[in-house]
Amino acid sequence: MTSPPLLPEWTPFSSVIRIYFAGITIAALLAGTLPFLKKSILDYGKLNEKPTGHQHNTPNEQSLSDRLALALRSLTVPKYWFAHFYVWASLWMAYLTVDLYYLCRSPGDDAQTLFDRPWSFLLLLQHFGVSVGVQPLSINTVPWFLLGLNFLHVLRRWYESWYVERPSPTARMHVGHYLIGITFYIAVPPALWIDAVEHPERVIPFWSLPPGRALMVGVGTVLFFWAYYHQFACHCILASLRPKAQSRPQQDAVAAAKKDDDSPTTKSVYRVPHGDWFNYFVCPHYVAEMLIYVAYYIIASASLNSPQGSTTLLIVLGWVISNLGVVARETAAWYRTKFGDQWTSKDLSTPQGNTPPRQRWILVPYVY
Ligand SMILES: NC(=O)c1ccc[n+]([C@@H]2O[C@H](COP(=O)([O-])OP(=O)(O)OC[C@H]3O[C@@H](n4cnc5c(N)ncnc54)[C@H](OP(=O)(O)O)[C@@H]3O)[C@@H](O)[C@H]2O)c1
Repeated sequence: MTSPPLLPEWTPFSSVIRIYFAGITIAALLAGTLPFLKKSILDYGKLNEKPTGHQHNTPNEQSLSDRLALALRSLTVPKYWFAHFYVWASLWMAYLTVDLYYLCRSPGDDAQTLFDRPWSFLLLLQHFGVSVGVQPLSINTVPWFLLGLNFLHVLRRWYESWYVERPSPTARMHVGHYLIGITFYIAVPPALWIDAVEHPERVIPFWSLPPGRALMVGVGTVLFFWAYYHQFACHCILASLRPKAQSRPQQDAVAAAKKDDDSPTTKSVYRVPHGDWFNYFVCPHYVAEMLIYVAYYIIASASLNSPQGSTTLLIVLGWVISNLGVVARETAAWYRTKFGDQWTSKDLSTPQGNTPPRQRWILVPYVY
């Protein structure tokens, strides 16, 4: 089953992935800068809470941009749908890894068509003129190792979102945010291997890595597991701030919260977190996420004979840093407004008897 590609020239899959990540990075930076987008799309979960005493203008007093922002803002889904990302990411990772395995097992432009494997997403891409690269990628190479690490990451996030986190039944996120989350997890697995699959001549097999590069893989792996552990610890701390009864968002809790906005369900939802990396950062779980992607970049680059390392993963890292940087900055402002002295006070002891520091970094010690 062969038919001419729809695009005039073969488009490298890496270009599609890079353009996607560059596009969502620009969108995140715009959402963090332009008040209209910030008001309507960026704020989600607790950032959507209105400050006490906030007065709505009557519809006649609202400007056109206010009304547009309000309409755009109303397109939301429950914030606890975050869990969908990780279920989806785990299943997609597993499927795409099998797909890649078959593609690499029997390489050759003409050898494989959709007719042979109609379930193959990668062959479907080739059918539409997006070149994935069909050179053999030995199992003895770093991209397979990276896929394993990312699989561990999304499986843990799945476990956390089902069994550890205690999400608010009323918190919302914008539907655009939800769609970016789903598409992000479609694009991450191929981003981990595309530079290697498109340029197999640059890939250094695992057991032939020179000592310096092997050390880079080791450092990246330690960094990954260090961040992995602390992200789990921070999600446990956030969960411990809420009573167990809120562990699963129940329909009746949503109904109760809607009926009485002062009910304990909504009233005691957010507290000041302390302990582990919360003693140093506003959003340490975001710091851990960032370090996980730094680790991916280090590991992928160590195995590629290319001066800039894995360009695709560098662009992915740019997205993770800018997106989480923007949200973490808003979160820091939200904590200061909501908790005032309680947020910064040096005298406030944690239940464990630790004293939280006066200042927490947003994402990067001494810098941001
Ligand atoms: N790779 C990426 O691009 C990317 C993007 C976004 C997120 N993530 C990762 O996904 C994870 C979750 O992100 P998120 O933005 O949902 O984090 P978040 O807003 O901090 O929420 C995490 C959980 O903790 C709860 N929570 C947050 N602050 C709380 C407080 N002060 N008191 C009590 N409970 C609190 C939230 O409840 P609510 O239900 O009320 O919100 C939610 O259940 C993070 O580890 C992050 O790194 C990755």
